[in-house]
Amino acid sequence: MWRTYNDSGTLAYSFVDSLVAMRPYYIARAIGGLFFLIGAIVGCYNIWMTIRTAPRTAGEVVADRHDAVLGSASALRPAGVTQMFGLHYRLERKAIGLVLAIIGVASIGGIVEIAPLFTIRQTVEDAPDMRVYTPLELAGRNIYIREGCYACHSQMIRTLRDEVERYGPYSLAVESKYDHPMLWGSKRTGPDLARIGGKYSDEWHVAHLNNPRDVMKQSIMPAYRWLLRTSLRSDDLGLHLKALRAVGVPYTDEMIDNAKSDAYGQAAPDTPYARGVTKRYGRATNVRAFDGVPGVLTEMDALVAYLQILGRLTDAAHKPGAAIER
Ligand code: HEC
Repeated sequence: MWRTYNDSGTLAYSFVDSLVAMRPYYIARAIGGLFFLIGAIVGCYNIWMTIRTAPRTAGEVVADRHDAVLGSASALRPAGVTQMFGLHYRLERKAIGLVLAIIGVASIGGIVEIAPLFTIRQTVEDAPDMRVYTPLELAGRNIYIREGCYACHSQMIRTLRDEVERYGPYSLAVESKYDHPMLWGSKRTGPDLARIGGKYSDEWHVAHLNNPRDVMKQSIMPAYRWLLRTSLRSDDLGLHLKALRAVGVPYTDEMIDNAKSDAYGQAAPDTPYARGVTKRYGRATNVRAFDGVPGVLTEMDALVAYLQILGRLTDAAHKPGAAIER
């Protein structure tokens, strides 16, 4: 359904259409998962009962049985299996050769992963306008990680026609330059969020996070009601900025020293703190009461500030041919 087009060449279904169509499969999957869960519980019970009912001299009993089984086993084994073990035993005796072979085989995966890094200068585009996350956006990003949003949402638009039409210009490497850890994700129970910034109003996000069913009747996204009533912890943000600087994000001493007041200021327009934010992070920074209440910093403020900046830290992806330049 994600890749079905109308005769006019536009996408035939919205994301939510696919969600509704997948309902029976989700139910089947839940039942399938239940079997695994029951199996695991029965397994634990089995282990527990085995331990409880074991004879006191278990060690000896096992040793006896071991001898008995080994004695008769080679007679029972089919010829092919014996041959295979024979080869294995001979290999095992050549320890150095075996070690070299293991290193050789294991390094194939490593080479495949490392080789592209040699071309990283050509792979990552230039984006001089790229800005860093503000402390408030960073706090929102931490909440995004804490709540496991990445388990249902990816942040990476692939170079496929249906993805570009559904979500916007495909993601560039440079856009994740300051992401530690990256949140590309590997599952799309919900839509991709790489370009969600600016797509909806703050009010929409607040209502949606508070209860997704209020704005999207068929939604299966959980409600995050506590975000609105939980005040944001901001005293550790300076340390967070410092840690990010250690891995290469260009935060200045001034940004680190003012992290806490900048977090407050970004959600408190018309205060001296707000002016500090635009001074340090640029005039294009969103400074508003994201959750609708100025001056009170909540987790909702932080998360919405973060969502509203996704895909907007640089314009690189919107420039025609940005990625093909080199
Ligand atoms: C169980 C999976 C699941 C989790 C976890 C989840 N979502 Fe969603 N999300 C969805 C689904 C499904 C939709 C599409 C329906 C809707 O709009 O509610 C969606 C939609 C959205 C949208 C609107 C996207 C668009 O383009 O319309 C945003 C924004 C969003 N989620 C943010 C979040 C955030 C932030 C979190 C973590 C606090 C989160 N989601 C956690 C499943 C999930």
